[in-house]
Amino acid sequence: MRLATAMAALMLAACQQAPAHKSDLASFAPPAQAGVRANLYQCEGCEAVSEADAATLTNSARIGPGIDRGPALAVDGVVYQSDGKTPAAGVIVYAYQTNAAGRYANGTAETLWSRRHGRLRGWIKTGPDGRYHYDTIKPAPYPNDTIPAHIHMTVLEPGKRPYWIDDIVFDGEFGVTPAYRRSMVNQGGTGIMPLRHDASGSAHVTRDIILERHPT
Ligand SMILES: [Fe+2]
Repeated sequence: MRLATAMAALMLAACQQAPAHKSDLASFAPPAQAGVRANLYQCEGCEAVSEADAATLTNSARIGPGIDRGPALAVDGVVYQSDGKTPAAGVIVYAYQTNAAGRYANGTAETLWSRRHGRLRGWIKTGPDGRYHYDTIKPAPYPNDTIPAHIHMTVLEPGKRPYWIDDIVFDGEFGVTPAYRRSMVNQGGTGIMPLRHDASGSAHVTRDIILERHPT
């Protein structure tokens, strides 16, 4: 319970420069059920996962290059069912992040979240192999803060409610401290992943996602 509370507090803190916060997060709590996180649906802005036309989505999207300036970063992963083994098809993954200055900037006016999440956001929908890919730029940490650079991700499974998973952060980089590690509860699997560079110098990070159990 202490970990869950800490995670909720960290999630709220982690977006302090983006959205206003829902004041009634408790109303998102599902009934207590074994194997289901009590705070699974406590989420700010998760409705943004439905702001893209699902019929047009593929398993690859471009968030950053050609949209904003910054070092290129490729994000790859596989979405698995809650057994951690079976690829999950038809899952929409919404990602948004800060720019190279650590800001959620230059959002558009269509929706609350298009404005607050900034223009560095995108959606994919997994195919039968569960794989997804984002081309983006490396986010920067918030200015004058201790929170690591991160990429937020929300998942939406067919017929389910959306939920937040642990942010992607870059192992060994600024802010990924022992205290940060302890505060994480691996919602959707761990988001603390190493940054890799290929022979050409391009940066990659892999973030597999293990879907959470839903209340029945
Ligand atoms: Fe954030």
